[in-house]
Amino acid sequence: MSYFNRLLLQCRSGFEKEAAAEITDQCANVGIYGYCTLNQGDGYLCFNIQQPGEAERAVKEIDFHALIFIRQWMVCGDCNELEREDRITQIEAVVTDIGFPQCSDLWVEYPDTTEGRELATFARKFSSALAQKLRKKAVLRKAKASSAIKLMLFALSGSEVFIGYIPAKNSAPWPMGIPRLKFPKSAPSRSTLKLEEAWHWFIPKSQWDERLAFGSQAVDLGAAPGGWTWQLVQRSMFVAAVDNGPMDPGLMETGQINHVQEDAYKFVPEQQVNLMVCDVVDKPVKTAGMAADWVINGWCQEAIFNLKLPMKQRYQEVISCLNLIAERFMQEGLAYELSAKHLYHDREEITCHLRIL
Ligand SMILES: C[S@@+](CC[C@H](N)C(=O)[O-])C[C@H]1O[C@@H](n2cnc3c(N)ncnc32)[C@H](O)[C@@H]1O
Repeated sequence: MSYFNRLLLQCRSGFEKEAAAEITDQCANVGIYGYCTLNQGDGYLCFNIQQPGEAERAVKEIDFHALIFIRQWMVCGDCNELEREDRITQIEAVVTDIGFPQCSDLWVEYPDTTEGRELATFARKFSSALAQKLRKKAVLRKAKASSAIKLMLFALSGSEVFIGYIPAKNSAPWPMGIPRLKFPKSAPSRSTLKLEEAWHWFIPKSQWDERLAFGSQAVDLGAAPGGWTWQLVQRSMFVAAVDNGPMDPGLMETGQINHVQEDAYKFVPEQQVNLMVCDVVDKPVKTAGMAADWVINGWCQEAIFNLKLPMKQRYQEVISCLNLIAERFMQEGLAYELSAKHLYHDREEITCHLRIL
């Protein structure tokens, strides 16, 4: 039996150090200690743990939804060197060994890098062949959604593969943590996908009709040319689009938008709106403080905003911003919900969601 004493973590290429700082902190919070091995630009890293069983405890006790820079994770051992002629048998041997949990599903993933993406076709074909074989032999068996465990393969090439597993409920809902969203042709900018992804990540779909409701009011700070406003308009919301820059004329024709040419940091709505969104490029602490003002002052029920990351100390900057918001709510004695994620469509920024409880 090989030891599954490692967490393999996927992140956006170039953000391995942030993901390492984050997993080290999160594991320390539950009394798990280890060290990271990474190469900048690989799109993944490993957190190596000495104590047997602790990697498994980490994925049970740390809430995946609370992770910011980590897109996907799995418990695994060393990278397996497979002989190409007989990969399936070798994987089966690992998966049926004592101590490997019963899995119900299989995902084959790979690094989200230029080189890694060349494995996409292999991953798709191999996954289907392997799943078929493992299902036939009942190595993969259906389980209740709440307790299902996913068999995870992370391929570095056709023969170098990490084999591991993850609780299905406490991991990314999309393979490699990448939602497949289609760019809507009529949207005025590609950033439209950031807001759509944010909704998928932060708001359960079952609540969209109530929280992104038909006819409700929204404010879009730093709205031009209108990619985020486009999403709000699609949900049949009325939008105050705050920006000195020009809005897309086609979008303005919907009649659902009031273009306000003001400073986003000074704008105050006349009455409470359901949702405030903000995509202004400015200092992250300034935006974090402004978002806290909006929710604490009751100007909006919930807010989705981007924090643009600095060149250095990116993880520390994010933590400072989240702490700043937490302190503001503590001072006011208000209960709130705050989450943050480096979304797939984010680049040098993260997206946050804040709301009063
Ligand atoms: C990244 S763009 C927004 C893109 C937009 N979310 C979209 O999907 O099309 C940032 C916008 O913020 C605006 N901006 C920057 N500082 C601002 C401020 N202080 N007040 C209002 N708008 C501001 C810029 O004019 C720019 O249009």
